[in-house]
Amino acid sequence: MTQSAVSAGSGAAPEAPPLLEVRDLKTWFKTEDGLYRAVDGVSFAVRRGRTLAVVGESGCGKSVTSLSIMRLVPEPPGIRAGGQILLDGEDLLEKSQVEMQDIRGQRVSMIFQEPMTSLNPVYRVGEQIVEGLVKHRGMSAAEARAKAIEMLGLVRIPSPESRVDSFPHEMSGGMRQRVMIAMALACDPALLIADEPTTALDVTIQAQILGLMREIQARLGTAIILITHDLGVVAEMADDVVVMYAGKVVERAGVRALFDDPQHPYTLGLIDSIPRLEEKRDRLSTIEGSVPHPQRLPEGCRFSPRCPLATDRCRNEEPPLRQLRDGHEVACWYAPIDEAAA
Ligand SMILES: Nc1ncnc2c1ncn2[C@@H]1O[C@H](COP(=O)(O)OP(=O)(O)O)[C@@H](O)[C@H]1O
Ligand SMILES: [Mg+2]
Repeated sequence: MTQSAVSAGSGAAPEAPPLLEVRDLKTWFKTEDGLYRAVDGVSFAVRRGRTLAVVGESGCGKSVTSLSIMRLVPEPPGIRAGGQILLDGEDLLEKSQVEMQDIRGQRVSMIFQEPMTSLNPVYRVGEQIVEGLVKHRGMSAAEARAKAIEMLGLVRIPSPESRVDSFPHEMSGGMRQRVMIAMALACDPALLIADEPTTALDVTIQAQILGLMREIQARLGTAIILITHDLGVVAEMADDVVVMYAGKVVERAGVRALFDDPQHPYTLGLIDSIPRLEEKRDRLSTIEGSVPHPQRLPEGCRFSPRCPLATDRCRNEEPPLRQLRDGHEVACWYAPIDEAAA
């Protein structure tokens, strides 16, 4: 995967350089049972003010990818085995943890599936928002409290002037997720990483939170990496999509191209398993089998044991990510590659 393939524009209007460029990222784990290649050569770019969705089943390496960007992978057992994570051209993999403390919250923020893992139960929600504002923005306590109330209003918490003094356990799951978003965006980061932000919520609340994220993005111009296993969420939210399988990118495209002209058999399987409205959500039932454990990766294409189209070549040779056409790449031996562009 080359840089030009990640960032190349259409040739006509030159595009602004991406806010974040992940190049050939490898995050492995050295465990007692051996080496886990959990993220194994992942590349993508995030454009300013846009949403990139990273989609794949559980265990594909989505969270390890986002934790790598935040530099929150525990080392050990984690190993930075290679690659670059360029934020405005600066490689986050080269930063010290002290430097990362300034970057986290201020330039890149993250929200998690379960807000209680990031909210401290013993502090009032306002105090938790204030803390970042005082630390990163040098605000006075009074200024920071006013900003915290403003942020709670922005995420549509009713009566923010009194809710600012609530404890997390006094709020519903949906409200806590709103507080998380308020906290993550308080210092106006250029990039928000949202790792399955609505998976734990019921469908109605999920739709509200996603709508809220879109609205805030339009207002603040925040770029979003949205991690999800749900292609329904991708269709609603994403501009660009990366499909991950077993630590690799198998397909990368604009959202329209991904749904109108999906190429990788894994992507096709995911799309086929989008639940219809009347069915239960979040079941990926039509792809037989499961994601391989990162210590027992198959030879050749990692999807080949589950792929209905796999041949001997797929079982022996790993397909590289190749350009199908501008902005659409796929790692499958049987996709119709544009040889002129490749
Ligand atoms: N701290 C860790 N030590 C060892 N293996 C890990 C660790 N964290 C994650 N992994 C492994 O990395 C793989 C990818 O995990 P993850 O990124 O959480 O998947 P996803 O978010 O796509 O569901 C999994 O097989 C998981 O077991
Ligand atoms: Mg995850």
